[in-house]
Amino acid sequence: MLHRFAALFLLIVSLPLRLHSQRQPVDAEGHQWWQHAVFYEIYPRSFMDSNGDGIGDLVGIDSKMDYLKSLGVDAIWLTPCYPSPQVDFGYDVSDYENIDPMYGTLGDFDRLEKDGKQRGIRIIMDFVMNHTSDEHPWFLDSRSSRTAAKRDWYMWHDGKGPGLPPNNWISEFGGSAWTFDAKTGQFYYHYFYPQQPDLNWHNLAVKDAMFDVTRWWYKRGVAGFRLDAVDTLFEDPQMRDNPGLPGLNKYGDPNQEKVHNTKLPEVHVILRDLRKVADENNAVLIGETWTKDVSELKQYYGDHSDELQMPMDFMFTKVDKLSPPEFRRQIAAVDAAGGWPVFVLSNHDIVRSYVRYGDRQHDQAIAKLMASLYLTLRGTPIMYYGEEIGMENNDPKRKEDVKDPIGRVGWPQEKGRDGERTPMQWDDSPNAGFTRGVPWLPIPPSYKTVNVAAELKDPSSILNTYKNLLALRHQNRALLDGDYVALNENDANVLSYLRRYKNEAVLVVLNMSAQPQDVGFDLALQGFPAKSAQTLLTTSARSKESSLSHLSLEPFAVYIGAVSK
Ligand code: NOJ
Ligand code: CA
Repeated sequence: MLHRFAALFLLIVSLPLRLHSQRQPVDAEGHQWWQHAVFYEIYPRSFMDSNGDGIGDLVGIDSKMDYLKSLGVDAIWLTPCYPSPQVDFGYDVSDYENIDPMYGTLGDFDRLEKDGKQRGIRIIMDFVMNHTSDEHPWFLDSRSSRTAAKRDWYMWHDGKGPGLPPNNWISEFGGSAWTFDAKTGQFYYHYFYPQQPDLNWHNLAVKDAMFDVTRWWYKRGVAGFRLDAVDTLFEDPQMRDNPGLPGLNKYGDPNQEKVHNTKLPEVHVILRDLRKVADENNAVLIGETWTKDVSELKQYYGDHSDELQMPMDFMFTKVDKLSPPEFRRQIAAVDAAGGWPVFVLSNHDIVRSYVRYGDRQHDQAIAKLMASLYLTLRGTPIMYYGEEIGMENNDPKRKEDVKDPIGRVGWPQEKGRDGERTPMQWDDSPNAGFTRGVPWLPIPPSYKTVNVAAELKDPSSILNTYKNLLALRHQNRALLDGDYVALNENDANVLSYLRRYKNEAVLVVLNMSAQPQDVGFDLALQGFPAKSAQTLLTTSARSKESSLSHLSLEPFAVYIGAVSK
C-alpha cells in the first residue's frame, strides 16, 4: 500500500516537470528546436515519383532524404497526402489517419519518418481543419438525413426563400459559399469548393475528433502541423450578410468584406487548446494566417504566447518589388511584434519568388539576393521546394490544360496554381529525373540547366548559394540568436542590417538595385567599433576582409561579413 502511495506521489510531483521537459530549449536563450530549424515545404505530388505513375510519392521523397540533409533542411512540411478525392489536390481529406494509396502507405510514412529522424529531419503534416472532403464518412453521415448523428458536424441551414442561399457569403474559389442538397432540402456551407464542406467547430464533438487526429500523428512521430485556413474556422452564428464592396472579384462575384466568416475571435480558443496538445508533444504549430498587417498577425501568437508558435507572415509574398524601404518597414514591424518571426517567399498557392522578384535580366543574382535576405533574418524561414535551384512558374497556356479548378473557373484572369506546382527538377534527363512516366504537370524546358545535378557542379549556382547560406545559418550564433538592427535606413537601394549577439555580429548588405552601389558603415553606435569585417559569404568579387567605411557592390550583389568587438 505504502508503495502505491509513494508511486502516486512521485507521479503527481513529476507530472509538471515531465510536461515541461517535453519543450526542451536548444540554447542559452531558451529557444526551442523550431526556432533554429529551417523548414522546407514539399508538395508530394511534385517532388519525386518512385513508381512511374507521374505523381510524386512518399518513397520518392524518402529517396531524396540525403539531398535534403546536404541542403541543410531540418524539417519538412508535407502538404496533404491523406486519402482524398483530389478535387483540391489533397486539401479535401476523406480520412485524416491514413495515406492516399497514390502517395504510398502508412508503412512508407513510418519509414520516411524514421529516415528523417536518423538525419535530424522532422516531419510536419498539413492539418486541414476548416473542412473535410464531401466524401469523408463524417459528411456522408451528415448529409444522409436531418437527424443523422453527425448532422451538426457541418453547417446546414435553410435558404432565405425558394432557391435562395441562407446569406450572401461567397466562396473563396468562386460562387456562393452555400450548396443546396436536395436529399434533405437544406444548404451546406463551404468556404472553398462545394466538395470541401466546412466543419462546425462550435460542436465539441468535432473539436474532440479533430484534436485526436493530431494526437494520432504525434504518436506516429510527427513534429507538428501546418494549420490550413485557420482564419476561416468559425462563422457568425447569426449568419449576418457580409457588407458589400465595390467591383467584382476574379470569379465575377461581387466583392465583400468577409467580416462574418473570417477571423472570428473563437478561433483563438481553439488555437490555445490545440497548442496545449502540441506542447505535450514538443511540437510546433505553423499557421496559414492571411493577416492584413502585423497587429492582426500578433493576435495569432496569442496574448500570452500560447497560440501559434509560427504564424506565417506572408509579407515577402506580397512586396513583389525590390524595395529596401518596404522590406525595412515590414521586417521592423514583424520583428517588434513580440513573437518569433516566420519568413516565407512562396508556396504552392503563390507564384514562385524567382518570377515575382526577377527582372528577366538579373534573375539568378536576384534569387541569391532574396535567399540571402530571408535566410539571415531573425526568425524561421520556410522554403518552398525548387526555390533553391531557381525554379520558375510554368503556367498553363490554354484553359483546357489547367488542372487546378480555380484556374478553370477564373480563366484567363486566374490561371490557377499549376504553374508553381510543377515537378522538382533533379537533372537534365527526360522529365527532369522526376518520373519515368508522364509527369502530372508539364516541366518547363529550362530544366535542362535549372536542375539539382547541374547546379551542384557550379560553385556559384543558386543551389550552392542556398547551401552555403544554410550552413552559415546553422553554425553562426549571431544569425541564430542575434537581434535585428536596421542600418543606413535612408538608403533607397541597399538594404543593410546587423544581427547582433553579445560580442559578435553579422553584417548583411543587399544591393537591391540594378546599379553598382557604394556603402559605408559606422558600427560604433551598435557597439562594434571595428573598421573591417571578415567576409562570410558574398556574390561579389571580394577578398577575405572588407573595409566597413567603403564597400562597393555590383548590381543585386550580396555581402555578408562577421564583425567583432
Ligand atoms: C490553403 C491551401 O494552401 C490551398 O492550397 C487550399 O486550396 C486551401 N487552403 C483550401 O484548403
Ligand atoms: Ca507515384
